[in-house]
Amino acid sequence: MLARLLFLADLELFPPAASAQAGPIDDLYWFEVIVSAIMTVLIFAAIVLFAWKYRRRPGVEAVQIEGSTPLELTWSILPFLVMLVMFGWGAQLYFAAQQPPKDAMEIFVTGKQWMWKIQYPDGNREIDELHVPVGQPVKLTMASEDVIHSFSIPAFRIRHDVVPGHYDSVWFTPTKPGRYHLFCTEYCGNQHAGMIGWVTVMDQRAYNNWASGGGSQGTLAEQGEKLFQQFGCATCHLLDQQGRCPVLRDLYNKPVQLSDGRTVLADDAYLRESILEPNAKIVRGFEPNVMPNFRGQVSEENVIQLIGYIKSLSPQTPASQQGSQQPPVVLAPPGTPAKASPKPKPAPGR
Ligand code: CUA
Repeated sequence: MLARLLFLADLELFPPAASAQAGPIDDLYWFEVIVSAIMTVLIFAAIVLFAWKYRRRPGVEAVQIEGSTPLELTWSILPFLVMLVMFGWGAQLYFAAQQPPKDAMEIFVTGKQWMWKIQYPDGNREIDELHVPVGQPVKLTMASEDVIHSFSIPAFRIRHDVVPGHYDSVWFTPTKPGRYHLFCTEYCGNQHAGMIGWVTVMDQRAYNNWASGGGSQGTLAEQGEKLFQQFGCATCHLLDQQGRCPVLRDLYNKPVQLSDGRTVLADDAYLRESILEPNAKIVRGFEPNVMPNFRGQVSEENVIQLIGYIKSLSPQTPASQQGSQQPPVVLAPPGTPAKASPKPKPAPGR
């Protein structure tokens, strides 16, 4: 709001503000700029004024003072209070940025030298392009295949490092249809500068049209199910009875008791770790661990597909996190080729 009052904004010194987050972040930014500018002017004015007023003059003897407690308290406490406002305001925005709303649509981003790979719950995939519907909160779950990247959409005022070894996430609510820049903002090798792309914000109808055009390999969950068969997971993780490994049905976002006495939540981070480093957290009753290590055998994109499949086995997961339709759960015996189900047509008005 404040930004709009300032003619500077119209000179395009700033990227467009196209997310619900952009306004509040710009307001804080302008508050800090203006407070800093006022302080700078006051301090420089005082320096010039005092230098002139107390300059050396013939016949005038300087009077030494030992300090003034009220003055010192004033110039300590006032700036402290101003800083406290900046801190409180900033912390509030920061914490809001960490908490995506429950109905956020989840999109997966994998950074790789030197491209951004995007995966949608309905099975669509893109490189260096992100399509989102206007007005819909979107949560990005991000992984890196190699080095540290940083995912940045200036028009949405979001930026987050994507560090190998775990998931990072950001969220935003796009507010204006259009095309916006997408950057990698962490030097990640000699083609870092080329690790750029576009975000397209579309109205809901256009988005539905766009989304129905792709995903020829089935939904994310169906892609994950194929991998689940291909890697032989299904021989141990039986779906409806206890095999040699924990049952995965209804596991997603549920507490899991570990052999060391801890209880953890079976969220994306836990599932990812359990696939890549099965020894890190062993479920109680399943020691010693018999699951092979899949690090190096599955890509981050594969892990995202597998997690999508595991999620689809928990019916209470909000539909928005699963894609357009509940994928059919196929109880295929081990070794059976995965069912090639046609991509479901998204319902109109989704
Ligand atoms: Cu990736 Cu810079």
